[in-house]
Amino acid sequence: MEFRYLGVSDLKVSVVGLGTWQFSESWGVTNYEDAKKIVEKAIDVGINLFDTAAVYGRGMSETFLGRALKELGAREDVIVATKLPGEFLSRHDVFKGTKRCLERLGTDYIDLMQVHWPPLWNNFPTCEYMRALEELVHQGVIRYIGLSDFPVELMDSAWACLSTEDPVSNQVRYNLVERDAEKEIIPYAEANGWSILAWSPLAKGALTGKYTPDNLPEFKDVRAGSALFHPDNFRQVYEVVKLLREVGERHGKTPGQVALNWLIMASDTIVVIPGAKTPEQVEENVGAADWRMTFDEWLALEEASSKVRISNVVW
Ligand SMILES: NC(=O)c1ccc[n+]([C@@H]2O[C@H](COP(=O)([O-])OP(=O)(O)OC[C@H]3O[C@@H](n4cnc5c(N)ncnc54)[C@H](OP(=O)(O)O)[C@@H]3O)[C@@H](O)[C@H]2O)c1
Repeated sequence: MEFRYLGVSDLKVSVVGLGTWQFSESWGVTNYEDAKKIVEKAIDVGINLFDTAAVYGRGMSETFLGRALKELGAREDVIVATKLPGEFLSRHDVFKGTKRCLERLGTDYIDLMQVHWPPLWNNFPTCEYMRALEELVHQGVIRYIGLSDFPVELMDSAWACLSTEDPVSNQVRYNLVERDAEKEIIPYAEANGWSILAWSPLAKGALTGKYTPDNLPEFKDVRAGSALFHPDNFRQVYEVVKLLREVGERHGKTPGQVALNWLIMASDTIVVIPGAKTPEQVEENVGAADWRMTFDEWLALEEASSKVRISNVVW
C-alpha cells in the first residue's frame, strides 16, 4: 500500500482510505456485523485511514467503526478521522460534540477532527471554533485539526485563528467528473502543505462501470434525485466510464480502480476515501494504489473528463 503524510503531520495514511458514511440509513449498511466485515477487510488489505462523522447515521457510523476497531484490536494501528457538523461549532458544543464522538468511537483520542462544513446559519465566528479545537489538541483529546468543504478564503482565515497548530487537511468533493477542487483548493493545499481528502472519489458509484444509461436503477438511498445520475448528466459521465474501461483493460484494472488512480496521480496532496458496502468493494478499491497508468492514458482521461459538465439544475 502506498502512503502519504497527512499535511505537515507525522501521520502516514494509506493513499486509499475507507469512507464510512455507508454505515447509515443514507447508504444502507445498518447491520453491525456487515460493517465489521468491511472494516476488517480494509485493515487486512492495508488501509489505515478511516473517515467517519458525527452526522453519519446520527452516530451509527462512529459507533460501528469504534466497536469494530476495538473488537479487532486495531485502534492503535489506525487513523480515525471524524467530523463535527457546522451546527456544533459554538465553543461549548465543540467540547460537548467531541465528547460524544469519543464515547461513540469508544476511544480517548481522535487522530483527525474535521470541521464538517463551515457554519451556515448559526453565525459562529471562525476563531471561536478553531480556538476550541486547538484547546482540544492541547488536552490530547484530538491529535490534528482538519477542515471539510471549506473554500480557500475560509481555509486561510481558519488557519490564521490558530496559535500553536496547523490544520493538516481539507476534505472536499473530488472525482473525475466533478473537478472544481482543482481550481483553487488543490493549488492552495499544494502551496501550503495541506492534504486533500477526496470524498465521493467514485462519483457515488457512477464511475465504477456497473451503472449504464440503459441500466440506471431508481435509487432508494442518498442518490435518489442526485444530479450525477440525472440522464442528462449521466450520459456524459458514461463517456468517461467507457474510457476508464479501455484503460483498465490494458492494466488488468476495473474502471473504478482507474478512476481512483487518476486522482492519486493528479496531485501528491490527494488521499482518496471511497465508501464501500461490501468487503469485496474495499478489496477492489485498494487496487487503485501501487501502480500508474501511462501519461497518455492520464491525458486521454483528462481531456474526456474536461468535457463533462455536471449541471445541478435538474429541476
Ligand atoms: N465531507 C463531506 O462533506 C463528505 C461528503 C460525502 C462523502 N464523504 C466521505 O467520503 C466517503 C466516500 O464518498 P461517497 O460515499 O459519497 O461516494 P463514493 O466513495 O464515490 O461511492 C461510494 C459508493 O460506490 C459504490 N462502490 C464503492 N466501491 C465500489 C466498487 N469497488 N465496485 C462497485 N461499486 C462500488 C458503493 O455503492 P453501490 O454499491 O450501492 O453502488 C458505495 O457506496 C464517504 O463514505 C464519507 O466518508 C464526505
